[in-house]
Amino acid sequence: MTVTLGLLRSQASTVTLGPLRSPGFDSHIGTAPQSGLRPSGSPARWLVSSVDTATLALLRSPGSEKRGRSSGSIFKRVLERTRKLWSKQDQHTGDRHRLFRAVAEAVPATTVLYPGSFVDIAPSFVWPAVTYVDVDKRANQFFGDIEGVDELLVANEADPLQHTVRFIHGDYDDELDLPAGSFDLLVSLYAGLVSEHCTRYLKVGGHLLVNSSHGDAALASIDPRFELSGVVINGGAHYRARTDELDTYLVPKRDIDITVDLLHETGRGVAYTKSPFAYIFQRVA
Ligand SMILES: C[S@@+](CC[C@H](N)C(=O)[O-])C[C@H]1O[C@@H](n2cnc3c(N)ncnc32)[C@H](O)[C@@H]1O
Repeated sequence: MTVTLGLLRSQASTVTLGPLRSPGFDSHIGTAPQSGLRPSGSPARWLVSSVDTATLALLRSPGSEKRGRSSGSIFKRVLERTRKLWSKQDQHTGDRHRLFRAVAEAVPATTVLYPGSFVDIAPSFVWPAVTYVDVDKRANQFFGDIEGVDELLVANEADPLQHTVRFIHGDYDDELDLPAGSFDLLVSLYAGLVSEHCTRYLKVGGHLLVNSSHGDAALASIDPRFELSGVVINGGAHYRARTDELDTYLVPKRDIDITVDLLHETGRGVAYTKSPFAYIFQRVA
């Protein structure tokens, strides 16, 4: 598992990295190279992610200069890759930003955990401390590009100095090096049964934002640790959280017995009579 700390910043020039270490941790702490990777104003010491290490290896690879790859051109390519990944993710421009803004209005949160995020960095436009988890190599590369991530934050009016973006390159089914009961909000969108594996990291009193694809909303609906506390409706380009008439949601269209086994078997969501974009559950136990 790799932990990439894209933006670990503080007003001080050194940062505490001890708690971030985990078995199999293959990043290292280093002094930022004199290169385009280090954003101006960032601390002198920072965590060099595995992606950065790979990029540095590319720079050092024999013949890289002969092939015409200056360090500038490699860093430019990294930045272009990040921009491309984001523009694909954000193809409905600003859609996720609007979604998370609406959720933030309904749910108090500072710390957010987003397993199966891929490159959906929009929660960091809204919340100050977000931890992303994904197995995909491209997500690791994306979050490892500190300059590129900074650029996206700034473009979305989030001050990089005020936002901590942490990325864990790994499987959320595995034990993550995160304290139990420490997050205010758990996000589960189109990424499997996140709540089954990651609720342990959510505070009692914290919230789960979940959509019905892959059955995770159905799983939360039968999990005694959760109570439905809201739904997120989308109309056109807008999202709005509602807390009224909650008993009219999560009513299956067909008479079925929703069980954990059924959700594991099908890997699909349950068809309900009403289809909000997502549900908000509160962890009550
Ligand atoms: C369809 S994408 C959704 C991405 C993002 N949540 C969104 O809504 O745009 C699903 C992502 O979940 C990740 N994923 C699925 N199962 C995972 C697991 N067990 N651990 C970590 N990542 C996982 C995949 O690698 C993929 O990037």
